[in-house]
Formats: sequence, C-alpha cells, structure tokens
Amino acid sequence: MLDLCGVELAGPVLNGSGTFDAIAARRAFGDALLERFPFDAFVSKTITLAPREGNPPPRLWETPAGLINSIGLPNKGLEGFLRSDLPQLAQLPVPLIVSVMGFSHKELASLVARVSERDEVGLIELNVSCPNVESGLIMGADPAETARAVEAVRPLTTKPLIVKLTPNATEPAAVARCAQEAGADAISLINTLKGMALDPRGSGPWLGGGTGGLSGPAVRAVALAQVHSVARSVELPVIGMGGIATAAQAADFLAAGARCIAIGTESFRDPGAARRIAADLGEHFHRLDMHRTRSG
Ligand code: SIN
Repeated sequence: MLDLCGVELAGPVLNGSGTFDAIAARRAFGDALLERFPFDAFVSKTITLAPREGNPPPRLWETPAGLINSIGLPNKGLEGFLRSDLPQLAQLPVPLIVSVMGFSHKELASLVARVSERDEVGLIELNVSCPNVESGLIMGADPAETARAVEAVRPLTTKPLIVKLTPNATEPAAVARCAQEAGADAISLINTLKGMALDPRGSGPWLGGGTGGLSGPAVRAVALAQVHSVARSVELPVIGMGGIATAAQAADFLAAGARCIAIGTESFRDPGAARRIAADLGEHFHRLDMHRTRSG
C-alpha cells in the first residue's frame, strides 16, 4: 500500500483529470470496469461552480507526438456534479479525488466547502492551471496568486488539498513552495503547455478557443524536468504526469521524486494504458531501489 496524504492507495497509478471518463466507461463495460479498474485513485474532470458548455469546436489538434486540446472545462457545474456524477464516481473501487477550478476565490471557496462535505470524496485537487478559459489568466502561473488561492480555501476543509501546477510558469518550483507554505498537502504537475495550431486552409487559429494545451509524449521531457525540480523543492508528495506512455517512463517520474504518477493523453490512444503500465511497473522497481539507495 502507498500513502497519499493519509489516504491509502493500492499503487501509484492515477489518471490525469479529464482524460478518462469513468462514467461512460462503466456504461460501456458494466461491472467489469469495477473488477479491473485501471487506476489506484480516480481524479474527476475539473468542475466549476456554474455549468459550462466548454469551448467552441474544433477542440483538438494532433501534433507530432502530441495533442493540443481546447476543451474549456465543459461540466455540469457544482450542483449537477454533486447530484448526478458524484454518486456514480463513488461506486468506483478506489479513492476519489475531485478536481475544482474557480474564477475567483469566492467561487473556489464555495466549491471546496461543498465538495468537502461529502464523505465519498477522499482528496480535492485545485486546478489552478487550465490554459483554456476565457480570462486567459492562469492563477497558478504566479506564486503569490497561488498562495492566496490556497490560503482562501485551506480553512474550509480537512480533506487533503492537491494543487495542480501549470508548466506555463517562470519557475514552477517557486509556485510549489508557495502552495506548500499556504497549506497544500500535495502537488500535481504538469498540466498542458500552451500551444497553437493554424487552420491549414487559412491563417487563423484551428482551435475554436484560439489556443490550447499541448500534452502527450511531446511534453514528457519538460514534465520530467519540472517534477524533478519541484520534488526537490517541497516536502509534499508529488504526483507526476506529462506524456507517460510506458512503465519505463512512469518509473522515470518516480525516480525523479514523484510519489504517484498519472496517465493522461495515452489513455485516449490506448484506454488500457494504465493497466499495462501498472502491470509492467514492477520490472522497474529494482532501478528505483538503486536510485533511492544512491540518493538516500
Ligand atoms: C480543458 O477542459 O480545457 C482542459 C482542462 C485543463 O487543462 O485543466
């Protein structure tokens, strides 16, 4: 068993928020999904206070070794989530992490306070890093702004708070340190790197939202460097993600200091990716042991 902020997980493999629809998968595969659930904890798609349609299409663009998304956080809103999605996600056989995003501290506070009332929720992830919302501002790009957001919600919950960092920051480790000082219990990273594609038929942007977030193998080296740097800068557990597609790559993130890893874009290409990676991870543990012996 592995401890993540006092919550026991059977292993280190999570999903990146919004990259695996467990409710749709349950509809498609029935209880077989629960019997062979691919993740050791499940992270919900980010919810906002009000329902959102998300960005206009097109929402995706494939790059060499990557994917740019401009989804724009479509969701049922807090009340819709609590009423309709949470009871279904609570049936999953693993701890539940609910991802929330507020456009102001007041919104974030309402989200954290209401989600926190629910026993089904194990941990809360603060998404301060989505690049696809109208304001264009990413709260988590600024250490002081991130600290203010964490301070605003810390007194409202006893559940562990994970802060999801953006790679679109000058120094993610500085943001992580401020999140730690403000009361965060864990750090997850990376969210997507801001990117753009032009419409091949003209000169305007392809994506309906104009710009989007790049993920997949194209970002893995950046993610690994940032996880390595953040893990050395804070005492909190780190959840590392960014382009992980194999167990060897997952082991790299663990060796770089992550307590857990998350599978994102690879689950779109191969919905069985998390199971494959978890099954193969054992082969790499000797390397992790050697690394820990050397650095310990
Ligand atoms: C989105 O829905 O736009 C992606 C979510 C995120 O990047 O945080």
